[in-house]
Order: sequence, then C-alpha cells, then structure tokens
Amino acid sequence: MNEITVDQDVLLLREELLSGLRKPQKTLPSKYFYDETGSALFEEICKLQEYYPTRTETGILRSNIRDIAAQIGTDCLLIEYGSGASVKIRLLLDHLDRIAGYVPIDISSEHLLQAAETLSRMYPDLMIQPVSADYTQDFELPAIDVPHARRVVFFPGSTIGNFTPREARHFLGHIATVAGNRGGLLIGVDLKKDVSILEAAYNDSRGITAAFNKNMLVRLNTEFDADFDPDTFRHRAVWNALHGRIEMHLVSLHEQFVHVAGERILFRRSESILTEYSYKYRPDEFAELAKPYFRVEHVWTDARHLFSVQYLRCVSRRRSRPA
Ligand code: TRP
Repeated sequence: MNEITVDQDVLLLREELLSGLRKPQKTLPSKYFYDETGSALFEEICKLQEYYPTRTETGILRSNIRDIAAQIGTDCLLIEYGSGASVKIRLLLDHLDRIAGYVPIDISSEHLLQAAETLSRMYPDLMIQPVSADYTQDFELPAIDVPHARRVVFFPGSTIGNFTPREARHFLGHIATVAGNRGGLLIGVDLKKDVSILEAAYNDSRGITAAFNKNMLVRLNTEFDADFDPDTFRHRAVWNALHGRIEMHLVSLHEQFVHVAGERILFRRSESILTEYSYKYRPDEFAELAKPYFRVEHVWTDARHLFSVQYLRCVSRRRSRPA
C-alpha cells in the first residue's frame, strides 16, 4: 500500500512559512527560533554583557522579592508562560507563601519536561503540571484541580515585546481569561532607553545573537527542505523609533534564489527577512496597552531604569451581576 497521508498541520505550517516569504518585506515566524540549538543559544544571549534584560530583570526580582510576594499573596496557582530554563521562577518559589501549584507552559517540550523534572527534585512538595503549548495561538489550559485562592501568571523576559502592540493586547486578554477573577499578572517589560544600549543588546560583539538569528535558516533547511546558506546572510538589528521597537533582520549578502518547501524564492542583494520585533514601552504606554484587562498595581525598576517588573491585577469586565 502506498498511501500518502498529508498532515494538515504540516500543510498549515508550510503555508504560513511561504506566505511570509512572498511578502514585499519577507518575514519568518519567530516561533522557529526555539529548537534545541536555538534555546541553548538564547541561554547564551542571556549571559552576554551587552544583553542587559535578563540580568536586570533577575536583579529587580531579587531586590524586591518580599514586596512582590506580598502583592501576590498566599495560596496562588502560579502559571508561567515560556518557562524555558526556569531560573527566575525559583526566586518566586523560594519566597511566595503557600503556593498551590506551578504550571510551566513552553513550546519546546523537551526543555519543558527537563526543567520540570529538575524543579520537582528541588521542590518535592510542589504540585507541578507542565503544559506543552504554542501559547501564541489561543489554547485552553487543562483543568488544574488543586484548590487555590487566585491564579497568577508569570510572564518574564519582556517576551510581551515580541508581539506587536495589537497582538500584545490580544494576548493580555487571553492571560486575563486564564487568570480569571482576582487573578494577577507578574510581567517583565523592557523600557525605552538610549539607542546605543538597545542596539548593542541585539548586536553583541561575540556574534551569539547573529548565530541565534541564523539558526532559524538552519532549522528551515532540515525541517522544510530549504537550501539556505546561512553564510550568505548577515544579522542586523536596528531601533525603529517611530514604532518603538528593535527589528531583527537577516540580510542577503547577494542576489540569490533559495528553495523552501518546494518553492523558489528570489532574494535581491541587501534584501532582508524580518525575523522578530522587540517592542519597548514607557510605563505609561504599557499601562495604556493593558488597560482593557488589567490595572497596574506596582512597577519595580532598576536604578538606571533599563527594565521593569510589573504586577497587574485583572479588572473585572463583568458589571455587577444580579444577586
Ligand atoms: N524576548 C527577547 C527580546 O526581545 C528575545 C530576543 C533576544 C531575541 N535577542 C533576540 C529575538 C535576537 C530574536 C533575535 O529581548
């Protein structure tokens, strides 16, 4: 029997990929950054001298952990989006009172399960329920049947900045639904600052960010039958002041054809693929963005005001229900 089964999901991914590459400004979906190599490279980025966000955010969490724990309160169910290596969460697990449970959500399932296992050895009494999901798509959180006073979502790393403001607001709406009544959101939000600091953070001198960006092409070669030569592309990250974002590009060094999933794509010399945005917000801009769903309760920041950690409380959107 020579039955060919064509996986619908694969077709959809292929279409999504090609539609981005057919646009005047070519794009690639940023979810392809985080395979095993990508996740490891990203961990390297987080340790870079130039990449201030991780270090600064961890410092803010550390210096204000008592305050943060007091805001969150006791008996909460902690839900973390994009849990990755789960380093920051340990600060919370060590300092929050009576945690009902911890639900790490990540797209990279190997990474997720590994980290969950390590954590369950460190916190043997903690209920941990890992969920493997692409949280950029709307998804349903499986029922978690431990009693808890409220749900608090932890979304560190300024990953919210990797959405456009419109997507970010939609995503905040999704988080508000997941967190529900009396729920909260502890979120890392990178702040606007001097362009030179911003651009250095995304153009590190050791070229790790470049390797991370190009890893996307390597991955398309193996998973989508593409024939990119990563050496013929250059990593470029620039601040777009009008939109308040860093833009990550891969720039073709010369004119060339590349095959992707059976299609031939022309690159002009210096033509780029846009791979990621990283929006930066002033605290008032972020409060405005979150306003339909959340009220900002507290903003913690570092001495240089590079980064912020914010605690937001869900605003009840249902007007007083009839008794
Ligand atoms: N959330 C990170 C950020 O916006 C992701 C990131 C860091 C990133 N460096 C990158 C994404 C380089 C793509 C390319 O800061």
